[in-house]
Amino acid sequence: MASDTSIPDDIADAEPQVRVRHLNKRDLNRTWEFIKAVFREVNRSTVEYQRPKSKKRFLEVFEEKGIEQLLFVIRTGGKERIVGYAECALAIIGTDNWMNERYFRARDMRPLFVEELAVDPEFQGRGLGTFVLEQLEHLAKLRGCTHLVLEVAENNENALKFYRGRAFTKLDAAIFLAKKVVSDPEILPPRRLKRREPRRVKASPSVTAPVDPKETPPEG
Ligand SMILES: CC(C)(COP(=O)(O)OP(=O)(O)OC[C@H]1O[C@@H](n2cnc3c(N)ncnc32)[C@H](O)[C@@H]1OP(=O)(O)O)[C@@H](O)C(=O)NCCC(=O)NCCS
Repeated sequence: MASDTSIPDDIADAEPQVRVRHLNKRDLNRTWEFIKAVFREVNRSTVEYQRPKSKKRFLEVFEEKGIEQLLFVIRTGGKERIVGYAECALAIIGTDNWMNERYFRARDMRPLFVEELAVDPEFQGRGLGTFVLEQLEHLAKLRGCTHLVLEVAENNENALKFYRGRAFTKLDAAIFLAKKVVSDPEILPPRRLKRREPRRVKASPSVTAPVDPKETPPEG
């Protein structure tokens, strides 16, 4: 569940109207909580960097020029509820990004980079993701872009199926490979110790009482 209240029956059964708007400063905290909740399950199955990155980075993004953040909302019980979020930019975002801008230039591609796309799990499978994508494509056309470009973890099978079904094709991507290294355990196996031989007690001459020939102990 991505927001503070569970999904009321009237919303679950009805066909709620989803509205798109730009994110405002007052939306930041609940949008952060929304994105975290959406990716909680996805993050369990992905090796790639976990989303969202950090709250600090999320707050910085809001201040950065050239990044568009969109909220998809419905009204329920007189309150607004976030059900979707998208983030996109004309230029590659961040300094830790591995993408090669020249790749796109060389192919006459002018991408709109989609940095985040999230739908409330309770609203998935109802056409909202498709709506978000259509909105992004609409923006791309208005901004003179030729492609939507995004990164998705290979293990995020739901999202991959969603994108492939909507004419996205693979450009090039790092594939995380792993090989099991067979090695001996660091810790040696348990070991049985030898039985201790009964120790011989040798009488010390200094503490030996003078021998009384009459009390000589029997041999044996
Ligand atoms: C991927 C995602 C945006 C799709 O949103 P959505 O609202 O479920 O999408 P729609 O209802 O418009 O379309 C459903 C399609 O997506 C697929 N799908 C993905 N996740 C699904 C889910 N949890 N439930 C139902 N269908 C899902 C279905 O196979 C369906 O495909 P089809 O229409 O080609 O048959 C959404 O699942 C999501 O936010 N996932 C978690 C966050 C994430 O992984 N984001 C992408 C990171 S790059």
